[in-house]
Amino acid sequence: MCGIYGHIKKGSKTNSAIACIDGLKRLEYRGYDSAGIAGIHQGKIVSYKTVGKVRTLDRVVQDNNLDLKMAIAHTRWATHGSITELNAHPHFDEEKALALVHNGIIENYQKIKKTLTSAGIKFISETDTEVISHLISFHYNGDIAKAVEKTLPELEGSFAIALIHKDHPDRILVATRGCPLAIGVCHDSKDIYISSDSNAFTGRSLDVFYLHDDEYAVVTEATIEVYNMAGIKLTKSLEVLNLEEKFISKDGYEHFLLKEIHEQPLSVERALHGRLDFKNGTANFEELSLSDDLLKKTTRILILACGSSYHAGCIAKQIFESLAKIPTEVEIASEFRYRNPIILENTLVIAISQSGETADTLAAVKEAKRSNSPVIALCNVKRSSLSRLAKSTLWLNAGPEISVCSTKAFTSQLSLLMLLALKIARTKDLDLAGGKAFLSHIENLGKQISAVISKAPEFKLLASKYASFKQFFFIGRNYMYPTCLEAALKLKEISYINASGYPAGEMKHGPIALISKDLATVAFCGNVHTFDKLLSNLMEIKSRGGPILAFAPEGYNEILGITDDVIFLPKQISDPFAPIPYSIAGQLFAYYIAILLGTDIDQPRNLAKSVTVE
Ligand code: G6P
Repeated sequence: MCGIYGHIKKGSKTNSAIACIDGLKRLEYRGYDSAGIAGIHQGKIVSYKTVGKVRTLDRVVQDNNLDLKMAIAHTRWATHGSITELNAHPHFDEEKALALVHNGIIENYQKIKKTLTSAGIKFISETDTEVISHLISFHYNGDIAKAVEKTLPELEGSFAIALIHKDHPDRILVATRGCPLAIGVCHDSKDIYISSDSNAFTGRSLDVFYLHDDEYAVVTEATIEVYNMAGIKLTKSLEVLNLEEKFISKDGYEHFLLKEIHEQPLSVERALHGRLDFKNGTANFEELSLSDDLLKKTTRILILACGSSYHAGCIAKQIFESLAKIPTEVEIASEFRYRNPIILENTLVIAISQSGETADTLAAVKEAKRSNSPVIALCNVKRSSLSRLAKSTLWLNAGPEISVCSTKAFTSQLSLLMLLALKIARTKDLDLAGGKAFLSHIENLGKQISAVISKAPEFKLLASKYASFKQFFFIGRNYMYPTCLEAALKLKEISYINASGYPAGEMKHGPIALISKDLATVAFCGNVHTFDKLLSNLMEIKSRGGPILAFAPEGYNEILGITDDVIFLPKQISDPFAPIPYSIAGQLFAYYIAILLGTDIDQPRNLAKSVTVE
């Protein structure tokens, strides 16, 4: 998986190598294990690859004064093969006549590799990608487009590829199946841009189109010809894109993560903006094309998502069930698609994805769509693949989330899900007074978020006490249980500490065996309804010598006698709204621990912001 970028210079003064590096920096959210670039110079492929982030490749490109009129480039999140220069893209054929970059996974690569190896072809990397280069070369007979056309049907799995060939120095060939690839022509310069994500075209005004599955294109400075796998030429309609250059800075914060945590009073406000309808005690979404009648008929909700978005879905399940009284299932997208799921009539599918590019979520939605159920997507990134699949997309409006670890997008997802639950509940049995009361709690969230953030020094202080623990449990009940799943994920992602989110009442059925003075428990006490029950669970941990830190609502002082440390959070008003302030508490705690451990907070090891492979 990874990000692909390509550029052909026409009317601009832009060096294609620099254009590609610039593009790769915008695609780094798709992986940052290694990066590479290739072009053609004096009839030969010239290429550089580096391990690590794009800035390392950038330095090499500049040191070598790489100046190209056409280039392809790649930023990698390793799937097949370790993080080495040899496994970095581009990959070549034996003679280095062609160079190819790839996003996706070739599932039958071992079979192809075996066939090619027995034909005497030598492989030098451990990647699945290298088979594509050799296979195209194997089929090459002077016509590179035909060689690509012959190769595509032999590939199983998902891919977006871009390649160049030394015998055809005027063209880039691209093809896709299951992975996005956009091609844009700049209005002013007529330069051609190719990218895994059209949002990487920022700062320009272009005519853009996306390749569809099993299409390939031959792109030169003069023409863009698109074909299907049978070699039939296709016509594409263009979309005009005007993407302003937005300089995204850390605004003086040490990390994007901290900036994004602090942005939450504002990002949640933006998620709610214009959507609260006090008069009718409901929510309104301009973007929602599903009628109230259809919402009213909904008898089941199916939520599909991954990672933090999945946790937002788990919290939303409880709200949909308690407020709208609709049975709701939440499925990890990667599990859903291979499970032969049963989707009953009148099911509403809600797909949650910050990026809208997570391969598992996209595949799960495609599977769900086979039942003809309407799909609502919740996305932050405009023009994402998920928004093109869904019937309606509700935008988070959180602004770009740069840190790989999700914070503000997560709380915006929760805010929107609450509003959606309210809207559906109002088409059903929730009365006007109930709707209004729900809205007044939502309106109060901004203050609660600010109050949690103002406690940052307390989180910092306690992080210094707990940073030496190698294992954590985050426990809570009801709404706090999925909130704990998210808090544990934050700690794992950015501090590399092993942490488990667990339902507090379930500890006694096994995990309590792990309790000792070396394992810290963080108790999320924000579910007032079950507060006393949670206290008993904490007593059980205390009796076994486990250190406990609690996040609890102001006024619940009984906690003081049980736990080692407490951070009091705003006074609890209503349980369904607590996941937002409490997950921010989890974010701050994880952040300050990670600071002490000196990890790469904005781009943690082994992760990618958007995982575009299965
Ligand atoms: C990756 C990120 C996570 C994110 C997940 C789902 O694994 O590292 O932070 O929650 O993808 O991303 P999505 O864009 O679909 O919300």
